[in-house]
Amino acid sequence: MKHHISVFGLGKLGASMVAAMASRGFHVIGVDILKNAVDALNTGLAPVQETGLEEMLTAYRHRIRATLNSEDAIRNSSLSFIIVPTPSDERGAFSLKYAEHAITEIGRALARKNEYHVVVVTSTVLPGATRYGLLPILEAASGKKCGQDFGLCYSPEFIALGTTIRDLLNPDFFLIGQFDDRSGDALEAIYRQVCLKNLAVHRMSMENAEIAKIALNSYVTLKISFSNVLADLCERIPGGNVDVVSAALGADSRIGRKYLTGGMGFAGPCFPRDNVALNFIGSSLGANCNLLQSNDAYNQAVLGRFIEKIKQVASGFKTIAVLGLAYKQLSHVIDHSPGIALACALAEAGYQVTGYDPLANDAARIALRHHAHIADSLEQCLKEAEVILVTTRDAAFQGLTAADFLQSKNQVTIVDFWRCLHPSLSTVPGIRYIPIGRCFDDETAALRIRELWEKHSSPIPLCIELPMSPLPAAP
Ligand SMILES: NC(=O)c1ccc[n+]([C@@H]2O[C@H](COP(=O)([O-])OP(=O)(O)OC[C@H]3O[C@@H](n4cnc5c(N)ncnc54)[C@H](O)[C@@H]3O)[C@@H](O)[C@H]2O)c1
Repeated sequence: MKHHISVFGLGKLGASMVAAMASRGFHVIGVDILKNAVDALNTGLAPVQETGLEEMLTAYRHRIRATLNSEDAIRNSSLSFIIVPTPSDERGAFSLKYAEHAITEIGRALARKNEYHVVVVTSTVLPGATRYGLLPILEAASGKKCGQDFGLCYSPEFIALGTTIRDLLNPDFFLIGQFDDRSGDALEAIYRQVCLKNLAVHRMSMENAEIAKIALNSYVTLKISFSNVLADLCERIPGGNVDVVSAALGADSRIGRKYLTGGMGFAGPCFPRDNVALNFIGSSLGANCNLLQSNDAYNQAVLGRFIEKIKQVASGFKTIAVLGLAYKQLSHVIDHSPGIALACALAEAGYQVTGYDPLANDAARIALRHHAHIADSLEQCLKEAEVILVTTRDAAFQGLTAADFLQSKNQVTIVDFWRCLHPSLSTVPGIRYIPIGRCFDDETAALRIRELWEKHSSPIPLCIELPMSPLPAAP
């Protein structure tokens, strides 16, 4: 029999979780403090933008309801996921203020419930937060004992915005940090029904799971930075091509191809802050976290490198179009968006900047109100642009033709940060195509690298005289 579950927090991850769970036959009760989010869910609408979310909420509406009332949700479910925000605080740690509020409400509801209930913290928290930050509040508010009257787990999800529902239903593995076996068994039983494949479930202490979650994200950021170092290097080597190098590197099973692309730095609401937070907890406890600090500093410097490069290629031009204002394609989120940062910096440098994004135009209009004009269509954005920056791999950008870029102009410069445009563009008269991560001036690069070797090579000896060793005496 499928359980009734509840999800506290109907944001980007929580609403997708509701839809994913309902699609697997669970009856799901969503809880939020925002009436709009609750009303949206009750009418089959998506409270946030996410690929396929509204379609799924509509399709499984008969198994979904939402409420502002925590007690209703706890009484009518046997397990609750907490997926509320954990924003970064001034130290770089994750604040528990929303989670504390949610867990207090859950505790009060548990005080009036006789049956065993499992509470699962899914929000990203730092090591120790579940046991030492949230559990005491839960026990105090409920007047009950963990392990006896209720269970507790820390179990994060590993999703990417834009593919959240697909990722929730097809994870690489499940991670369960459990207070005790009973809590972990209850959650594993649910996960086994969510995923159709027989996936690995890694069960461990809550602290190890808290470390694993944030370490995974931070490790991915190291990989991104490494591939950006390679992209930078490839641009300086005659014929250098980061895609060719990465394909070879990624074929090694120790490395793998994912996130080894070379392009923009890591961005969005999770990666930058997770790296900072891992550094915070490690440094606070005395671990040497120089590697994480360097990664963060390097990532911030990537943008500076691009700004200098764009200023060089845009010298003599006035108008710049930025295609891609979300931090990545398929998302409306602009947190740490490289497109937004570039638009600001270039406007401040005196360029006339126009931006466009299929999903993030509304958010960008507010963020860039003093810096850039936001175009209502791609066509409008490209109309006057002399220099065009393609900052995300959006399908709408990948399909652009030479005629779309040129319109009535004789000449345009295109900087393709992900090398995602059609390769034929590089040969079209009037288009100067600059792919990031590939050498685009072999001649200058050859001069520099030749100089490096010529300066340091010693004169070639005409013949090499080997020291003669005496012949062994004849026996
Ligand atoms: N978005 C991601 O890509 C992602 C990925 C992995 C983990 N996470 C983590 O998941 C958590 C939630 O992230 P998000 O992006 O879904 O946040 P979000 O801001 O999109 O949504 C959070 C929702 O929680 C609601 N909320 C706040 N306090 C509440 C309370 N006391 N009770 C009930 N609802 C409450 C808010 O009103 C909002 O609707 C964070 O800890 C985040 O780090 C997010």
